[in-house]
Amino acid sequence: MSDDIHRYDGEQLVVHYDAQRCQHARACVSGSSAAFDPDRRPWVDPDALPPRLVARIIERCPTGALWYTGRRGGPVEKPPPYTRVRLVADGPLYLHGPLTLDPAHRRGPDTRVALCRCGASKNKPLCDGRHAGVGFRDPGLLDGESIHPPEPGACKVVAIPNGPLMLRGWVEIRGVGAEGDQRRVHDQVALCRCGASKNKPYCDGSHNKIDFRTERR
Ligand code: FES
Repeated sequence: MSDDIHRYDGEQLVVHYDAQRCQHARACVSGSSAAFDPDRRPWVDPDALPPRLVARIIERCPTGALWYTGRRGGPVEKPPPYTRVRLVADGPLYLHGPLTLDPAHRRGPDTRVALCRCGASKNKPLCDGRHAGVGFRDPGLLDGESIHPPEPGACKVVAIPNGPLMLRGWVEIRGVGAEGDQRRVHDQVALCRCGASKNKPYCDGSHNKIDFRTERR
């Protein structure tokens, strides 16, 4: 296991932290400075609050940098019944649900993950925060609203070499439209990860025009 993955043992909860996945969304520190204090060593205290409260805070970590395992009757994380994809303005895709990622990118459970959509990450398909440095701009707009709900079930995330992210399985994409929050539902969809599509968040084939490369030549 990488040196960037740390564990913090509590009575009923073991908290795991993957520094490479962390994008400082601050869901943890704003959830409880007693349990998560970046100025303290160790910075995580799993016993600072009742385990269910610590677990609830961890479940808000959008990148999956924090996860937990329960012990001695401690809580167990259950993903939502289907995968939700949130478009972050000028940033990544946040996925939350019953996911499977390519095993090469799996470091903990795949329930929550941030995926690159600017094309600049050096840790594809994961976001590594480079969208800010390259000036990626996309407000996360969605055109139109689906009326039918997604069906429960797993979603397989396949990062196509030199191409888009294929999400195979039901997903609900959440973004912003002219009339506020919008949601689109798909049972399979290709999402842009090169940053060049004119139809974001969907792939429109622009990766070919810009000669997008995810693999070394
Ligand atoms: S991956 Fe960006 S247009 Fe296909």
